[in-house]
This record gives sequence, structure tokens and C-alpha cells, in this order.
Amino acid sequence: MSNKQEYKAEIVSKDYLNEDTLFFELKCPEIADAAIPGQFVNISCSKFLKRPFGIASANKEDGTISIGVKIIGEGTKNLSEIEIGEIVDILGPLGNGFDLDSFDSYILAGGGTGVFPLNFAYDTLSLMGKNVTTVFGFRDRSQVIMEKEGHIITTDAGDYGIKGNVLAGLDSLSISGNPCILVVGPTPMMKGVGEWARSHSLKCFVSTEQHMACGVGICLVCVCKIRSEDPNEEYKHVRCCKDGPVFDYEEVIL
Ligand SMILES: Cc1cc2nc3c(=O)[nH]c(=O)nc-3n(C[C@H](O)[C@H](O)[C@H](O)COP(=O)(O)OP(=O)(O)OC[C@H]3O[C@@H](n4cnc5c(N)ncnc54)[C@H](O)[C@@H]3O)c2cc1C
Ligand code: FES
Repeated sequence: MSNKQEYKAEIVSKDYLNEDTLFFELKCPEIADAAIPGQFVNISCSKFLKRPFGIASANKEDGTISIGVKIIGEGTKNLSEIEIGEIVDILGPLGNGFDLDSFDSYILAGGGTGVFPLNFAYDTLSLMGKNVTTVFGFRDRSQVIMEKEGHIITTDAGDYGIKGNVLAGLDSLSISGNPCILVVGPTPMMKGVGEWARSHSLKCFVSTEQHMACGVGICLVCVCKIRSEDPNEEYKHVRCCKDGPVFDYEEVIL
């Protein structure tokens, strides 16, 4: 089956995680069956172009997936007003997703809405029996979402967990073996974690959240640069939606 099909999905649950962030469960067996962590879906928001959201979990038995939505503009506001039982158009699963096979242990570092795709990665790695450590960073306690037992939480304000940003959380770890770092969040955070990984000689993959339109590689709205192996060119352009959104930190130019 093509991984670019559009489906109708019913909203089966809707909860507020904090004042501006919601968590939706959607019935879409085809996407639940095919999705891997790090992939995303494009969802209709009334009159607007579809908007991309990382898949936060997938339950093949129930045929459901979940997404988290932070309200930042008209499209996400519109989505926040959709009620249980309503139907949305949904395209997916899209993008390449994380490589969860090549390493024995993983460190997941997330901030902002990056915690949603990392939640799916955490669940999957746990089921695979892999060693997984999760560090999520937030502004303050009121922003803490998607926390699970054992997760390391940092807050800039220091009113919950370790005081500081995700790097403070990473510094608190005693690293053994050769874990792979997966990072999703604001670009400065991904750069910071990428440099931290480099300084520890660890492999790091980032998931870019570039502006997108079609989500399937046609419109070129989402191009970003990766380093070229061709000595005659410094970089080449790739489409974050189709070639990514997950890239090797050593390759992508953030
Ligand atoms: C692969 C991918 C996965 C994503 N996963 C999630 C997720 O799990 N949960 C979630 O809440 N959001 C996620 N996003 C971001 C989400 O798609 C945007 O917040 C949404 O499209 C904004 O739509 P809007 O109409 O509300 O805002 P708009 O009116 O389109 O924009 C409002 C403001 O936000 C800025 N903006 C819009 N999109 C982005 C973006 N991608 N990056 C930075 N700034 C942006 C605009 O420039 C503008 O200033 C993801 C984006 C990508 C590309
Ligand atoms: S969003 Fe259209 S090519 Fe990536």
C-alpha cells in the first residue's frame, strides 16, 4: 500500500495537556498499522492547507493514532475546536522516521512539541527491550507534558526536575556504551544537543520541523540543506517532508 494515501479519521478522544496544548486520538487503522516513530501526518484544518503533526503513538489493535497539537496560529486553533466524533482528512504516514534498529541503546532528547514523536519512539524502543533514556526540557512546571516514569525532566525555571535546559539533563547522565541520540525540538536545542553528542563522540539524529505544505515531496516548500559528498558543491537541497524529517546531525545544515 502507498504510504501517501489520504484517509478520513474520526476524532475518538480529545484532552487538554496544558492551556494551549491538546492531545487527540484518531481512528485510522491504515495509518496505525503502517506508522513508525518519527513519521508524521498532515491533517486538514478547515479552510487552511493541511498541517503536519508528529505521530505521538500508534495502536494497531485499536486502529488509532495520537497527535499532540500546540495552538500557535489559525490552523492549530481551528484544529483545537474539532470535537470528538468529527471527521478530519488525514494524509500519512509521511516522512522517513527514526532508525530504531541499528543501536542497542538510545537517548531521546526533546523540547516543545518534539516530545510527541519521541513519545512514540520511547514506547516502541521499550517494547523492543532496548535501553532507552528520555530527557525532556520545558520552560517551567506548567509546561511539563508527556512525562512517563523514569523520564528526566528539566525546567528553565527550576520549579520541577533538574534546573536548566535539556543539556543540563544530558550532563546528569552517566553514559555507558555507545547510545544513539534522537533529538526533536526547537532548532537551537537540536544544535545544542547535536554539539553535545559530537563532543561525546555519539551518533545523533535530528528531526527537522520545517514549514511544510504538500508533505509529499512535490511543492518544495520544505527544502533544507545537507552537506554534499561532491567536492565541487558545499551542500545540496533535500525535502524535509520526504527525505526527512529525520537527518543525521553530521549531514544536515540546521
Ligand atoms: C514534521 C513536523 C512535525 C510537527 N509535529 C508537531 C506536533 O507534533 N505538534 C505540534 O503542535 N506541532 C507540530 N509541528 C508544527 C505544526 O505543524 C505547526 O505548528 C502548524 O503547522 C502551525 O499551523 P498554524 O496554522 O496554527 O500556524 P500558522 O498560522 O501557519 O503559523 C503561526 C506562526 O508559527 C510559525 N510556524 C508555523 N509552522 C511552523 C513550523 N513548522 N516551525 C516553526 N514555526 C512555524 C509561523 O511562521 C507563524 O509565525 C510539526 C511540524 C512539522 C514540519
Ligand atoms: S512540503 Fe511539499 S515538498 Fe515538502
